[in-house]
Amino acid sequence: MDILPDPTTLVNEDSADGSIYSNPDLFDMEMDRIFMHNWIWVAHRSDLPESGNYITTFIGQHPVIVSRDRKGEVHVMLNRCRHRGATVCEHKKGKAASFVCPYHGWAYGLDGALRGVPFQEGYTGQLDKSNYPLISLRVEEYNGLIFASFDHDIMSLDAWLGRTKPWIDLFMKQGAGWPIKTMGEHKFTFPGNWKIQLENTTDAYHFPIVHKSFLDSVDSETQNTFDFVEGNGYVEDLGHGHSVMVMIPDLVDLDENLEAPIPERFQELADELAKDYPDEQVRRIVRAVGGSGFNLNLFPNLACSMAFFRVLRPLAVMETEIRHIAIGMDGGPELGNEMRLRLHEHFQGPMGFGTPDDSEAWDRVQRGSLAGRDISILLNRGLGHEAQREDGNLFSDVSAETGMRAAYRQWLVDMTGKTVRAENGE
Ligand code: FES
Ligand SMILES: [Fe+2]
Repeated sequence: MDILPDPTTLVNEDSADGSIYSNPDLFDMEMDRIFMHNWIWVAHRSDLPESGNYITTFIGQHPVIVSRDRKGEVHVMLNRCRHRGATVCEHKKGKAASFVCPYHGWAYGLDGALRGVPFQEGYTGQLDKSNYPLISLRVEEYNGLIFASFDHDIMSLDAWLGRTKPWIDLFMKQGAGWPIKTMGEHKFTFPGNWKIQLENTTDAYHFPIVHKSFLDSVDSETQNTFDFVEGNGYVEDLGHGHSVMVMIPDLVDLDENLEAPIPERFQELADELAKDYPDEQVRRIVRAVGGSGFNLNLFPNLACSMAFFRVLRPLAVMETEIRHIAIGMDGGPELGNEMRLRLHEHFQGPMGFGTPDDSEAWDRVQRGSLAGRDISILLNRGLGHEAQREDGNLFSDVSAETGMRAAYRQWLVDMTGKTVRAENGE
């Protein structure tokens, strides 16, 4: 008889057992208890601008279709034909009036309703089409972020996001007054567990070490901006496993500090924009192009990370897909969006100065953590030095591992229904 791992023995407030990155039974439990019982980010509103638009993506390991129907309503449905289970759509995105299964031709509407069955007389007395729509998941949206859940009894998205909502609103200011839109992505896999990546988005400690080559590749003014580990940034637990890591406090609210000097690397862009926009809007666009100064980690699969969406998808216990989705101004000047893409490539691109170094570190965490038995992964940086805000949020200096501890608390809640620390108020 198989004995399931006991998550309570694997995660403590200050550490976790190395096997959390490599135990296949634990991974199966995570896919069920975390990815099928939480709100999982699936798309940004701009991915589906018009009726008939759709994208295909995954929730955990389940393929899904996200579509906008004729009435403009968004649906998230399992990409699984109700006849014998084939995927009904393999395109990454597109526009369609229906989804037709390639195997025997069952046709589904944008809302998942089964509309047509070829040679239907063979089903006489056997098939009521209204009983076989594509399986719909629960869908809710906040400020352009579309989430879905297998769990129809889950709390509202509003409640789940809770104290992260003001941060999402701040992140969306990168539209400089226009809505934001997604502008393409870099996608790659790394041979490691998904939680290694989850931790990384709230890990400021590594920045000056792993990203030395990035810091060496930029001008001294930019180097100073990114010299934040001993600065006045902070990391804050926002509840439900979510956290925010503020690296550059000056760039938290992009509508503020508009009178600050324009950084040298944006001066040329500002000069060009000044031909078409008043000074204040030029400054707003320049700040938006430069990106926000924080990483907002939304448990378990999305980070609104400075100036892009980082989306993780567990493929197997030791294999994870990452997408770095660039964002830009929807309706704003193309010049600004082009510069944003160049900055994205500079750090996140396959030949960039940032992400390739990150993924080498993640790869090595996976390989090294397989050495030995019963050896802890430490999560204790800054523990005991956290302060509490009036709303209950724990916060600490930017390089503390407060965000990781927040994520693992939610991990344990999901995996067991118990908390690590009763007094954390969750
Ligand atoms: S599997 Fe889809 S129509 Fe047969
Ligand atoms: Fe990094």
